[in-house]
Amino acid sequence: MTNLYSSTHPKSLAIADLGCSSGPNTRLASPEYQVFLNDLPGNDFNTIFRSLPGFQERMKKQLEGGTGPLFFTGVPGSFYGRLFPTNSLHFVYSSYSLQWLSKVPNGLEGNKGNIYMAGGSPPSVLKAYYDQFQRDFSSFLTCRSEELVTGCRMALAILGRRSQDPSSKECCYIWELLAMAVKEMCMRAVAEPLLIGHFGFGEAIIDDVFRRYKAIIADRMGKGKTEFVNVVVAMTKKG
Ligand SMILES: C[S@@+](CC[C@H](N)C(=O)[O-])C[C@H]1O[C@@H](n2cnc3c(N)ncnc32)[C@H](O)[C@@H]1O
Repeated sequence: MTNLYSSTHPKSLAIADLGCSSGPNTRLASPEYQVFLNDLPGNDFNTIFRSLPGFQERMKKQLEGGTGPLFFTGVPGSFYGRLFPTNSLHFVYSSYSLQWLSKVPNGLEGNKGNIYMAGGSPPSVLKAYYDQFQRDFSSFLTCRSEELVTGCRMALAILGRRSQDPSSKECCYIWELLAMAVKEMCMRAVAEPLLIGHFGFGEAIIDDVFRRYKAIIADRMGKGKTEFVNVVVAMTKKG
C-alpha cells in the first residue's frame, strides 16, 4: 500500500473490497482513503455500516500517528459486471468470494443427488463448472482492468486445491457439509410424515431421531480433514 501510494500520489486512495460480506473480516485495513464495500444487493450492508465507528476507533489506536480520513461507501451489485467508473480505483481486494459463480452452470442434469462437483459427478458436469468459472473470471478481470488506474494493483484470495482432481475433498468439503445439511432437511421432510403415519411417533421422538442423526454427522465431520488451501494472486495493471 505504501509503495502504491508513493508511486501514484493520488489525492485520495480508492480501495474496493469486492464480496465484503457483513462479518468481522469485512473491512480492509488500510493520507485520505476512500473505501468501497461491495457485495450483492441482498447483503446485510446495515450490519457493516453499524460496525464502522468501532472499526475506525480501533484503526486510530492500532496505527501510531493515526490515519488520514476514511470515507466508506457501500456498493451493491455483482462484481461480474462494472461497479466503478473507468480508471477510478487504486487497489482492488477480494477474498473468498470468487468461488461464487454468477449463475448455476447449464448442463448439470447428470449430477444426480449432488449439489456440487462430487467424486461421482460425470466429466460433463466438471466441464460445465469449469466453463462457467472461465466465463465469470474473464468478465471479472475485464471489468477490473477498466476500473483500475494504470500501475495500480489487485489482490485476490481464492479457495484452491493441491489435487489435480476438481472434485477433491480439499475444495469441495464445504459443499459436502452443505449437502449433508440439505439432505438432512429433505430426509426429515420425507421421513417425518411416514414415521408418524406408520408408527405413530410423536414430535418429541422425531426430534430425538434427528438429534442423534446430527451427532453422527458432527462426529464424521470432526474426523475429516478440515484444512483449506488458499491461493493468493497479486496483479498490477500495465499501461
Ligand atoms: C465467504 S464471503 C467472503 C467475505 C469476506 N470477503 C471475507 O473474506 O471474510 C463471500 C461473499 O461474496 C459475496 N458475493 C458472491 N457473489 C458475488 C458477486 N457476484 N458480486 C459481489 N459479491 C458477491 C457473497 O454475497 C458473500 O458475502
